[in-house]
Amino acid sequence: MDFYHLLPKIELHAHLNGSLSNSTLAELRELKYGKEVPSGTDDCFYKILNGESLTLEECFKKFQYAHDLTDRREALARATERVIEEFAKDSVIYLELRTTPKCTAQMTKREYLTTVLDVIRKSSENQRGIVVKLLPSIDRSKGVQEAMENVNLAIELSSSFPGLMVAFDLSGNPFGTTFSDFVPALQRAREHGFRLALHCGEFEDEQEVKEMFALGVDRIGHGTFIEGENLAFAQEHKIPFECCLTSNVKCKTVPSYEDHHVAKLLKLKHPVCVCTDDFGVFETSLSQELKICASTFSLTNTDMVEMQRNAIEYSFASEQEKKELRAKIEQFSETLSKEL
Ligand code: IMP
Ligand code: ZN
Repeated sequence: MDFYHLLPKIELHAHLNGSLSNSTLAELRELKYGKEVPSGTDDCFYKILNGESLTLEECFKKFQYAHDLTDRREALARATERVIEEFAKDSVIYLELRTTPKCTAQMTKREYLTTVLDVIRKSSENQRGIVVKLLPSIDRSKGVQEAMENVNLAIELSSSFPGLMVAFDLSGNPFGTTFSDFVPALQRAREHGFRLALHCGEFEDEQEVKEMFALGVDRIGHGTFIEGENLAFAQEHKIPFECCLTSNVKCKTVPSYEDHHVAKLLKLKHPVCVCTDDFGVFETSLSQELKICASTFSLTNTDMVEMQRNAIEYSFASEQEKKELRAKIEQFSETLSKEL
C-alpha cells in the first residue's frame, strides 16, 4: 500500500451527503427501490450502478440522488455508517463530518440529527480507530428561519450527545442570500459553545468575508477569494484554511491544481489542512487529495506527516483526543524514519 493510504489522516471538511461513494449510492438505491432497475430509469444512475465513468454534470446529480436516498432513518443511518467506514478504510483517524438536518416526508429534523449522532456515537464505541465529530450545517439557500431552527435543535440535543457536536458549518448556495441575515443564528450557536467553521470566501465577496471575520471564524472553508486586508487578518489571527483541491478544480472556482490558493498559503506558512469536501461527488479520497497536493507542490512525505500533525491542532477535538491523535502520528512517523 502506498504512503498516502497508510498515513494516519485528519479530515476537517466533509459533507455527509456529498461523501456517499458510488457503491453506497447503489446500496441505498436498492434499500429504497429494490433490486429491479425500473424501465425509463435515470441513465446517470444506471452508469453509477454499472461502475461507468461520469461527466462532471452527472457527478453533481449525486447530491440529488443522495438526498432522495437518505430521506428516511434507516437509509440515513446506513449512509452515515458507510461514510465513516470508508474514511476509516482510508486511514482517516479523525473525521469532522458536516450535514444539514433535513425534514422529509419520513422524518423530522430532530430524527435526522439524532440518527446521524447515534451512528457516530456507536462508531466510537465500536473502537474503529476513528474519532468522529458532527458539525451541523446551516444551508444558506434554506433561509434564516431554518438556520435558527438548526441551531436551537443542536443546542437542545448537545447535552444528550456530549462532545459530539463541536461546531457549526455555514454552506450551501450563497447566491441570492445575505450573510448578515445568518449572524443571529451563528452568534447564538457560538454563545452555546459551538465553534464556527464557515464556507468563507468561496466566491468573490470581500465584504462578506469581513463580516464573517467580525463575527469570528475558527476555520475557513475554502477561502479561495481571501486576499489583501482579509488575508492579512487571517494571517494575524492564524485562522486555518480548509483546502479542497479537487472540489475547487472541478467546480472551476480555481483554474487548475497548480493555481490553487493552497500554494500561496503554503508559501506564507499559513495554517492549512487538505480536505475532500465531497469525496463521493468529486470521486476522490483524502489520500488522493494529499497525493495531488504533494506532487503538485513538491512536498515530501515528511511535509505531509507534518501537515497531519498540524491539522490535529486545527481540529475541534478535545485535549485528550488530540493527545491520542498526536501519539498515532508520532508512531507512524517513527516507523517511517526506521524504514528510511
Ligand atoms: P448534506 O448537508 O449532508 O446534505 O451535504 C450536502 C450539502 O452540502 C449540499 O447540498 C450543499 O448544501 C453542501 N455543500 C457541499 N459541498 C459544498 C460546497 O463546496 N460549497 C457549499 N456547500 C456545499
Ligand atoms: Zn464544503
